[in-house]
Amino acid sequence: MRNVFTFLLIILFFNIADAQKDGYVAPTDTAVQHKLAQWQDLKFGLFMHWGPYSEWGVVESWSICPEDEGWTQRRGPYSADYNTYVKAYENLQTTFNPTHFDPDKWVKAAKDAGMKYVVFTTKHHDGFCMFDTKETDYKVTSAKTPFSANPKSNVALEIFNAFRKENFMTGAYFSKPDWHSPYYWWPYFPPKDRNVNYDPAKYPARWQQFKDYTYNQIQELMTGYGKMDILWLDGGWVRPLKTVDKSVEWQQGIKYDQDIDMPKIAAMARAKQPGLIVVDRTVAGPYENYTTPEQQVPAEPLSHPWETCMTMGNSWSYVPGDHYKSSQQIVQLLIKIVSRGGNLLMNIGPGPDGDWDPEAYKRLADIGKWIKINGEGIYSSKAVAPYSAGDIFFTQTNGGSNEYAFLLAKNNDVALEPVVKIATGNDKKVKSVSLLGVKHKLKWKQEGGDISVTIPQSLQSNSGLQYAAAFKISY
Ligand code: GLC
Repeated sequence: MRNVFTFLLIILFFNIADAQKDGYVAPTDTAVQHKLAQWQDLKFGLFMHWGPYSEWGVVESWSICPEDEGWTQRRGPYSADYNTYVKAYENLQTTFNPTHFDPDKWVKAAKDAGMKYVVFTTKHHDGFCMFDTKETDYKVTSAKTPFSANPKSNVALEIFNAFRKENFMTGAYFSKPDWHSPYYWWPYFPPKDRNVNYDPAKYPARWQQFKDYTYNQIQELMTGYGKMDILWLDGGWVRPLKTVDKSVEWQQGIKYDQDIDMPKIAAMARAKQPGLIVVDRTVAGPYENYTTPEQQVPAEPLSHPWETCMTMGNSWSYVPGDHYKSSQQIVQLLIKIVSRGGNLLMNIGPGPDGDWDPEAYKRLADIGKWIKINGEGIYSSKAVAPYSAGDIFFTQTNGGSNEYAFLLAKNNDVALEPVVKIATGNDKKVKSVSLLGVKHKLKWKQEGGDISVTIPQSLQSNSGLQYAAAFKISY
């Protein structure tokens, strides 16, 4: 009994130490734990940033932010004067009419590519709502917006319903900051930067209106939009002042307490959506159920659930002629991420006509061909040491009875050496080794933690495989 107690104390100690190390706080709600585990098995999701900004093909929201950063620069005929520009930007609402919007087409392409969940920008920092909110007229369903006459005008609802029909998990991206709301950027003062433009402590009634506005909108999304799995909250500068980490450069500009009462929001959201995963990005604590490295892949596995969000082109928003990553790059990114225990949330920005760039469809079709052969080593897999060795990245499934060694190709087509050495570092006795997508029986031998696979000449330059070859090792 005493031993058990000591043992529990040791575990508790290590858990606390772990929480302090990376700030991650594991959810205690078993429904959330369960959904999070399911979500971790999905590995590959679709992100979409969409709003009237796509009409200009400019960066989402940021061009109306009065900060002088590379990504906030204004372009085009109105750019010389800030106020004129903002008026014209907001006026994009009156011409937004994406008549080719057909979410079923996206679902088909995403499903074929092996994507299993979707996160959509219901509202970005500019405050334009891609859902039928009752809280503002700055929305896609407003009479001011031509698309409101379309039967699919409640865009977020249409997207979530279409993807859910094919068993995707659905996630609502929602920006906490709202640069259109008079409760966030009070028109009395000019906006100075991305933050609230008045001191909430000095004007508590106004801040309360902002809190109510935010709460009500999230409540709308959690009630009228079907089963929601993820609430993806962006704009980490809206946070309690005491959570600001001054070692992070962008957090140094946060001067005011911008507490929106996350405990209250999360309780409401989870009452409507049991088990909801909440991602209060960068605000480490009980409402950041997974972390979201942006446009980067952590160099090592993280000790908590995580997801890399990354653009397929260069931009989150639609930019005509954007340069899309190659299919080889995307597949290899997915492998690296999964080998480190993460998910990949890949973004495609729909254009003003309501469709994606044809390049995006081509990429998804290529990825789909690859995933049909190799998906068994991706979905529901776990990270396994040594994670990678040279160009080979590992995953495991079924409690470790199968391991997959993904050899990344240097070019589109896989070229294999006469003997491929796989350093699993694991001396469990190997039962069989095969190459996914290839019928040949391969000769192999195991020496401790090293497996050498002999590749017949016919396969060396002509395997028919692309991007990465997966060796399946069964123990
Ligand atoms: C960056 C961009 C923001 C985008 C987000 C997605 O923070 O500034 O506009 O929504 O990435 O992760």
